[in-house]
Amino acid sequence: MMIFPSKRCFITGGGSGIGRGLAVALARQGTRVIIAGRRIEALQEVCKANPGIEAYALDITDRSALVRAAIEVPGKFGAVDCLVNNAGVQRMHDLKKSMPLDFCDLEIDTNLRSLMSCTAAFLPHLLAQPSARIVNVTSGLAYVPYAVMPVYCATKAALRSFTLSLRHQLRTTAVRVIELSPPAVSTELHDYMGPKGRGIGIPLEEFVREAMEALNSGSEEIHVANAKNLFANPVESFARLNG
Ligand SMILES: NC(=O)c1ccc[n+]([C@@H]2O[C@H](COP(=O)([O-])OP(=O)(O)OC[C@H]3O[C@@H](n4cnc5c(N)ncnc54)[C@H](OP(=O)(O)O)[C@@H]3O)[C@@H](O)[C@H]2O)c1
Repeated sequence: MMIFPSKRCFITGGGSGIGRGLAVALARQGTRVIIAGRRIEALQEVCKANPGIEAYALDITDRSALVRAAIEVPGKFGAVDCLVNNAGVQRMHDLKKSMPLDFCDLEIDTNLRSLMSCTAAFLPHLLAQPSARIVNVTSGLAYVPYAVMPVYCATKAALRSFTLSLRHQLRTTAVRVIELSPPAVSTELHDYMGPKGRGIGIPLEEFVREAMEALNSGSEEIHVANAKNLFANPVESFARLNG
C-alpha cells in the first residue's frame, strides 16, 4: 500500500479537530509531525498521547512569528517536507444587521491572509527539499456558500482559487499542492453555536479515514463525503443548503 510520502509534517491548528486527527493518523504511519496553534496546553495534550508528535506555539496571524517559525521549526525539529495549512475560524453574520467588521477581519486574516503568509514563509524551505507537499484545508463551502456564513465561505472560495494558482505555479518544482476539502465535521469549529455545534457534521474519525485514504493514494483534489456533492452540483446544492 502506498502511504503519504512525508517524513516531517507541520500542521497549523493541530491541537484540535481535523488538524489533530490528521496529525495522529500521519504519526501512526511514521511521519514525524509538528503541530502548531495558540493554545499550548491543547498541543501538549496531543503530544503526550501520541508519540511522534511535537508542539510549536504559534499565532498564524502574527506575521513576524510566522517568519520566525519557518526558520525555527526546521532548525529545532529537522527538515519539513509537508505543510498542512489547516487552522481556521468560522462565524455567522446577518448582513441585514450591522456587521461586526473586526470579526470579518479576523476570519479573512486567519483563513486566508495568514495562510498565504504561512505558505510564503515556508516555501523556500519546501522548495529546497527533494520532494514536498502543501495541503490546504478548504471546505465544501468553497464551492457553494452557506449564506449565513458569508465571510467564512468567501475565505474558503478564495483559498480554493489561491490553491489552484499555487499548484499551477509550482508544477515544474518538486512541491505538490493538495486541496483537502472537508464536509461538515463534528469539531470545536462550531462551538460558537452553543451545545448544538458539536452535533453538526460527520464524526471526525470518519472524516480522517476517508481523507487519509485519499492522501495515501496520491490525490491532489480531495473532496470528502458531502463535499463531493457540493463540488459536483453547486446550483442544486445552493438551493438545498440555503432552502
Ligand atoms: N469542522 C467542519 O465542519 C469543517 C468543514 C470544512 C472545513 N473545515 C476546516 O477545517 C479546518 C480545521 O477546523 P476544525 O473543524 O478542526 O476546527 P477546530 O477544532 O476549531 O480547529 C481549528 C484550529 O485552528 C487553530 N487556530 C485558529 N486560529 C488560529 C491562529 N490565529 N493561529 C494558530 N492556530 C489557530 C485552533 O487552535 P488555537 O485556538 O489553539 O489557536 C484550532 O486548533 C479549518 O480550516 C476549517 O475551516 C472544517
